[in-house]
Amino acid sequence: MSDSAREAPPRHAPSYPFTVLTLFPDMVRQAVAHSIVGRGIAAGRLDVQAVDIRDFTTDRHRTADDVPYGGGPGMVMKPEPVAGAIRTTRERQPGALVVLMSASGRPFDQATARRWADNPGGLVLVCGHYEGVDERIAEHYADDEVSIGDYVLSGGELAALVVLDAVARLVPGVLGNQASIADESHEGGLVEYPQYTRPPAFEGHAVPDVLMSGNHAEVARFRREAALAKTRRVRPDLAARVVEVVIDRRRPANPSRPARLGRPRPGDDP
Ligand code: ADE
Repeated sequence: MSDSAREAPPRHAPSYPFTVLTLFPDMVRQAVAHSIVGRGIAAGRLDVQAVDIRDFTTDRHRTADDVPYGGGPGMVMKPEPVAGAIRTTRERQPGALVVLMSASGRPFDQATARRWADNPGGLVLVCGHYEGVDERIAEHYADDEVSIGDYVLSGGELAALVVLDAVARLVPGVLGNQASIADESHEGGLVEYPQYTRPPAFEGHAVPDVLMSGNHAEVARFRREAALAKTRRVRPDLAARVVEVVIDRRRPANPSRPARLGRPRPGDDP
């Protein structure tokens, strides 16, 4: 979606629907009451429902987990209540993408957040607990399975809240200043340039002079170069991908010329 499309949500546009399927619905309800997401809900841009998976159990103990086949430690979430919650939610929220939160899912990233923010049916986020969810849910009931990082959380709720936040702020009308999205970390394949505010000197540490020069072209150049330098330092994996993309883009136009990063110069390919 272009930035201009993001900037102007039509009046009375439907709110973006999220449903979180969880054993701890209050944890989700409390978290989404705050900050940008809370304001997005209050403004009618977002709708967030937390559904208790235990409401889809059928025994009098409301059992949601069981021992793993094949043995091993811990408990596994039973498929029937999770599948029941997904089925009921799909009926209420047609077109929704159902995503299982799991440490063994594919990595969640900004490109995925952008794609999901464009899905009019919204998202259903399924939170696992214990040793995880019976694999038949990932195989036959969810559309996707994502991890928010290479570590194991004690439940999917915090991961679902991370995904919800990253997607919600890209929904038109949720952020006050949509233009800021274009400059953010990961939007252009780099981490964001460093930001400073007043005072100009803080405990002996000065703000770079160029940012106070009023020269917009020089500020833009400083930011491009600082973003690239920081990306090389903290995320060499991302910096290498940007170099690859630049080389790929330039190769068909002039294969004999080596690719170069940084500020455009006269004679560069467009
Ligand atoms: N559940 C447990 N760990 C997780 C992770 N890293 N990402 C998503 N869901 C999880």
